[in-house]
Amino acid sequence: MFEYVYIYIYTYICLFLLPGQDFIQARIVGGYAPSPNSVKYIVSLQSSKGQHFCGGSLVHKYWVLTAAHCNMGVDQMMLVAGDYALGVYEGTEQYSKPHLLIPHPLYNKTTNNADIMLIKLRAPIELNRYISLAPLPTQNTGVLPGRVCRVSGWGSTSHSGGKIPPTLHTVKLPIVSTAKCNSSESFNGNITSNMICAGYSTGGKDACKGDSGGPLVCDGRVYGLVSWGNGCGDAKFPGVYTAVSRFRRWVDRIIYSSFTRCYKY
Ligand code: ARG
Repeated sequence: MFEYVYIYIYTYICLFLLPGQDFIQARIVGGYAPSPNSVKYIVSLQSSKGQHFCGGSLVHKYWVLTAAHCNMGVDQMMLVAGDYALGVYEGTEQYSKPHLLIPHPLYNKTTNNADIMLIKLRAPIELNRYISLAPLPTQNTGVLPGRVCRVSGWGSTSHSGGKIPPTLHTVKLPIVSTAKCNSSESFNGNITSNMICAGYSTGGKDACKGDSGGPLVCDGRVYGLVSWGNGCGDAKFPGVYTAVSRFRRWVDRIIYSSFTRCYKY
């Protein structure tokens, strides 16, 4: 909600102030570029024209886990695994179109609750040195506040100017307690039990637009999916992530049940 207003205003101001300049450059606020193919399960969701719009995680050779708000419709999406620099062919990429999109039935785009979606691929991704599956947490296991996790993505944010290679970026962030995240100084009750927050109380480091759906990894497991926020890197507002552990059983049910075939989309 907040973020759309923010992005709109931000985009407008940037376009206005920086004519002719590429204003969306830095990925992930305050982060760095990890070595190529070090996050082996991250996937780029792209439009049919090759425009990156969200991240995701490969959880099975036929399935990608992402945010429900990344749903652009089956015909508009292309998935790329094994990527590092977007728009540069590195020889490690594998492409697949989606066959089915399964947003969580409780997803609510007003509250952002249950912002999680599974994408079944038309063709399987072959696992190799550059591409592996993302481990998920077991159902309802929490991460304690203060635990440092890592979020990665190709999302864009700051207007650093000049062209930098569009490589994957990553940043380490501590988990923020739901009590603090829900306080009147912060998200004021909008954080549901299906969300977790992460960020520094000093701000500066965060996921941002275009990182959506991408993994927040704690102890090697994808505990969060980039979901929403209020601006990016604001000291008062940590990033909000879908709490993957709340949906582990749902994920397994979809992937491993023969009912999958019965979903109509
Ligand atoms: N909804 C945004 C997207 O579509 C992600 C926002 C995350 N914001 C944040 N401050 N962590 O990419």
